[in-house]
Parts: sequence; structure tokens; C-alpha cells
Amino acid sequence: MARTIVAQPSGRPTKAYNGLAMDPASVVVKQSPIHGEGVFAATDFHEGDVILRFDDSRLVTDENPLREGESILHCAWLPDGRVVYAQEPERYTNHSCDPSAYIKEAGGVRYFVARREISAGEEITIDYSIDNWGDVWWHCDCGSARCRETVYNDFFRLPLEIQIEYLPYLTQAYRERFREQVEELERKAARR
Ligand SMILES: C[S@@+](CC[C@H](N)C(=O)[O-])C[C@H]1O[C@@H](n2cnc3c(N)ncnc32)[C@H](O)[C@@H]1O
Ligand SMILES: [Zn+2]
Repeated sequence: MARTIVAQPSGRPTKAYNGLAMDPASVVVKQSPIHGEGVFAATDFHEGDVILRFDDSRLVTDENPLREGESILHCAWLPDGRVVYAQEPERYTNHSCDPSAYIKEAGGVRYFVARREISAGEEITIDYSIDNWGDVWWHCDCGSARCRETVYNDFFRLPLEIQIEYLPYLTQAYRERFREQVEELERKAARR
């Protein structure tokens, strides 16, 4: 059964979150054709709309490790060194090689932003390789025409054209952590 999770308590549009507009939108968590449960739009979004604001308050640390019932699949390793235990609904976001959303960070808060027009009922997906690193790969079932099938976590293992396409989505923290590689990529992009 679908669970409706209202992304914002107020029913009115607001610019309260660090100047980012957020419509009175809601998303629904339900069974996904990609994997397990996924996050689905319960309303239409335009490109650039903020879909939801993350709750990054639960940090996983040596002093505060995973608790019983918590899955490592729902941990996010952030480029600034924090490990966040993702909350609902964002913890159910699946990967797509042609994602409908991306993560934007502003004022220390993370948001999902629509990468294109999204209709009510569509799954909200992100590309897990953006802002990511590490020697991990896995088989993708996103089913998109652009599916890479084998997905490497490491952003810099993406095909060059896709790295360039995704350059605007890298967060400031990732740019700082991988400064030399990002600057090299920007030089390559400028030469195109
Ligand atoms: C954050 S969870 C996403 C929510 C997950 N569907 C659930 O029900 O808990 C991340 C995990 O979902 C699975 N997953 C997400 N996107 C996938 C995809 N495109 N292909 C295959 N598995 C995927 C992988 O097992 C991944 O480790
Ligand atoms: Zn895919």
C-alpha cells in the first residue's frame, strides 16, 4: 500500500528554505519497477522545482553506529565526510541512468530538484554516480534507454560525455574534495 508523505507541512508555496522555492508538493513511497520501494511524484513538477528537503539529522558515527533494523543500503556517504542515515521518504530513492532529479545543497541543507518535467505518478530517481566515489560497481535495472547496465559508483568512471553533462550537478563539497579532477574535467568540457 502506498504511503503519502507530505514533503512540506504548509499547503502554501514558500521560499523559506534558503531562497529555494518549494511547492506544496507531496511524494508517495510505493513498490517500484526498478527495485523494492521507490519514491513517486504525487503531483506534477517543473524543471528546477524543489521536490523535497532532506532530513540529514541522523548521523552514523563510531559513537552512534547503525541500530537494529537499520540497513546499510540507506546510508549516504557525503563528500564532506559525514555518513547520513537517510530518512523517509528520501531513503527509498532508486537510481536511474536517466534520472528525473538531482541533489542540490544550499546553506547546508540538501534537496531533490527536478531535472526535467515530472508528471504525477512518475518515479523520482537520481543517478547514484553523481557526487560519488569508490571501487564499487553493480548491475542496474533502471530500464531507461540510457541504462549503462554496469554502474560504477565512481563519478570519474562515467563516460566522459556523461561526466560533462553532470558537471552542473556536482555539489560544492564534492568539488572541493576532488578539486584537481573536477578542474581537469572543466578544462576538457571547455575544449569541446
Ligand atoms: C537507497 S536504496 C533505494 C530504495 C530501495 N529500493 C528499497 O526498497 O530500500 C538503494 C538500493 O536500492 C537498489 N537499487 C536502487 N536503484 C537500483 C537500480 N537502478 N538497479 C538495481 N538496484 C537498484 C540497490 O540495491 C541499492 O543498494
Ligand atoms: Zn540504468
